[in-house]
Order: sequence, then structure tokens, then C-alpha cells
Amino acid sequence: MNSEHGFQEVVWVELGERRYPIVVADGVLDRAGEWFLQVGLSPGSVHLIVTDETVRAAGYPERVAASLGARGVTVKTAEIPSGERSKSLEWAAKLYEAALGAGLDRQSSIWAVGGGVVGDLAGFVAATYMRGVAFVQVPTTWLAHDAAVGGKVAINLPRVKNVVGAFHQPRLVLYDPTALDSLSRRDVASGLAEVVKHGSIRDAELFDRVERLGESVLYLRGVERVRLLARSCAIKARVVEEDEREAGVRAHLNLGHTLGHSLETLGDYRRFRHGEAVAVGMVFAALLSEMWLGAAPGTAKRMAAVLERIGLPTGVPRDFEDEALLRPMYSDKKTVGGKLTFVLLEEIGRAKTVRGIPAETVRQAIRRHRREFPDGGFPPQGPGD
Ligand SMILES: NC(=O)c1ccc[n+]([C@@H]2O[C@H](COP(=O)([O-])OP(=O)(O)OC[C@H]3O[C@@H](n4cnc5c(N)ncnc54)[C@H](O)[C@@H]3O)[C@@H](O)[C@H]2O)c1
Ligand SMILES: [Zn+2]
Repeated sequence: MNSEHGFQEVVWVELGERRYPIVVADGVLDRAGEWFLQVGLSPGSVHLIVTDETVRAAGYPERVAASLGARGVTVKTAEIPSGERSKSLEWAAKLYEAALGAGLDRQSSIWAVGGGVVGDLAGFVAATYMRGVAFVQVPTTWLAHDAAVGGKVAINLPRVKNVVGAFHQPRLVLYDPTALDSLSRRDVASGLAEVVKHGSIRDAELFDRVERLGESVLYLRGVERVRLLARSCAIKARVVEEDEREAGVRAHLNLGHTLGHSLETLGDYRRFRHGEAVAVGMVFAALLSEMWLGAAPGTAKRMAAVLERIGLPTGVPRDFEDEALLRPMYSDKKTVGGKLTFVLLEEIGRAKTVRGIPAETVRQAIRRHRREFPDGGFPPQGPGD
């Protein structure tokens, strides 16, 4: 869609009275003020931008604040340290204080300008401050195109990720792809894993497109990038519309996340980026789909080839033992009587949640994964990320 500001895509998340737009457009950071008014936020109250130090240094929150200020909106900014450790009860408490100190009331809104960490934390604060105030997402990472849509907000406890949270849908998502230009190549690749995931679970054409683009998907700009992001956001939006509270199809978004979660845990959340762990997990899920669900032979190879060209890992690290990989799967809420639950693929573009897979089958799949997709020495060491 063309607007007076150039190419823009608007994807609506249809949730009745709580419907909201995801606006994807180069430069939309500088139009935050227009959208503020368009979605009916309250100009008479004080509003709070939450960001992290890296994103602030890149100048994005300042642009959002300037655009809001130009429309007469009073806005304050609170900053957290970059990284997953800030998604904590301690930082939530500091943000409650910041909100109170800045004078936020029930008509105020909280704006998350940053990646998934800022989004999850600021969203959690927005869900709970004064029993819930309006929330706006301004994602600045590729990965956050997944995190910023759908209203799941959370913080971590010291040993368990995302264990305290809420469903709190944003009123507006503003996605400026030019903000992604300052990301490292590694972070771009990690975020693209979720695009491949969205294609794999319900949009074979999107998967094909990424497959055709190969490595060049990392360097997309302009209209092409806007289109790709909007399409991937749209898949998330459709899934959320069908199943906001994850009673059914929303679980498909967990493709690759079961083994991925084991890798993240064993790597202490430092060795792998989220999308990297999910990439390995998706190859594994595709392999298990061939073994257990009768997916076409070669599905896992095709998955691995796409991910590899983006620069993502596909193999399980040699130093992670089979049983250690299985352990986190047993503690999964969905595990019953030693039988495991996985999101599998009937084919690329069609996912299915499969319960009751014996641990022995999973073990066999792990061994086969190691043989067919050997660890390529990931993650890369040293600088040049
Ligand atoms: N709520 C959900 O549905 C959902 C879904 C997926 C992931 N998540 C959560 O998202 C988090 C991961 O998201 P993430 O990868 O965006 O992490 P992140 O927010 O930690 O961002 C990654 C790094 O990039 C930096 N950064 C952000 N934007 C930048 C930019 N434009 N230029 C340069 N650097 C930038 C950040 O400071 C950080 O150091 C996890 O906590 C995960 O649990 C939530
Ligand atoms: Zn994910």
C-alpha cells in the first residue's frame, strides 16, 4: 500500500474491540505522533517510553519521543541495561517507580522501543501498572516481529524464563525496518529463523520466497523488506486471532522450540541466540516429522539448506549429550508419562501438534540428526558477529 509517506503495509490483528494495527514502513518511527492520535491514545496524560541502552544509543527512542512531542504529547523515557537479564522482577519494580514518578495515570500508555526483551518487560509493566494501561510496541529487532505481535508479555525468574507473565495486547505496533540496519548480521539471521518458522507452519509461499532469496535475504531493503516483514507479522496475527490464549493452533508457533529450548538451557542462554537454537530445533522437528508423521523424505534437508544459507546453525553441538538434551523436554508442562509432545510438519506450510511420542523415538531422531546434520562448529567465535 502506498501512502503519502511512501510504501507502507498495515496488518490488522482482528480481536474485536481490541483490534490493532501493525504498521510496517521505513521511517515510521518519525510518525509515532500521528499514529498515537489515530488509535485514540490520550494526549492529556503523560506517556512512558521504555528502551535499553543500546537502542537508545542508536537514537530510535529519541525519534519516537520527538514525533510524539510534536503532537503535544508529554513523554518520558526510562532505560534498562541491554540483555535478557533485565527481564526481571527487579527491573519491573524500577519501571513501576519510574511510571509513578513520571505521573502516569490510567489513561497513560507505555511504549516499548527495542527488541523482545524491552517488549516483554515493558508489556508486563503495562499489563500490571494500575491494573493495566495501554501498551505500544516499537520493535527494533527482526526477532521482535514475532515477540511484538500477540500480547504475550513476561519476565523471567532467576532460573526459569518467561514464567511470570500475562496476555496484554498492544494498542499499536509500529515497525520501522530501517531500525534493523544497525543490527549485527548474527542478530538479523537469528530473527530470520522466526520468518522461516512462520513460513514452515502455515505459508509455504513465504518459505519458498526465503528459499529463493538465499543469503540475499540478509540484505533486503526498502519495499521488499517491508513486504517480507509484514507477511511474517500477518501469519503471527492470523494465528493469534484464531487462538489468542494458546489453546490450540497458537502452539504451532513453538515449532523448533522444544529442542531449541534444550539448546538454550544447556548453552546457558549465552552460547546461542534464540533464533539460532530454534533453527537447529526446526531441522530436528522436520527430521522427526519424516520419521513419525510420514513427511516427505528430504523435508529436513530442505529446511537445513534454507537455514544454512542465512548463516544459521543446523546441527546439535557435539559436546551436548543426548540425555542432557532430553532432560528439559521431560520437565515440559506438556510431557505426560514419559511421552513427549512436539510441533511437527505434515509438509512445509502445514504444522500439527503431535502428542505421545515415545522418548526412545526422540532419542533415535537425535542420533540421526547428529549423523545427517553434523555440528558445523557453531556458534562462530570472536568478533565479526
Ligand atoms: N512475547 C513473545 O511472544 C515472544 C516471542 C519471541 C521472543 N520473545 C522474547 O524476546 C526476547 C528476545 O528478543 P530479541 O532477540 O529482540 O532480544 P533483545 O531485546 O535482547 O535484543 C537483542 C540485542 O540487540 C540489541 N538491539 C535491539 N535493537 C537493536 C538495533 N536496532 N540495533 C542494534 N542493536 C539492537 C539489544 O540491545 C540487545 O542487546 C527473549 O526474551 C524472548 O523470550 C517473546
Ligand atoms: Zn521463538
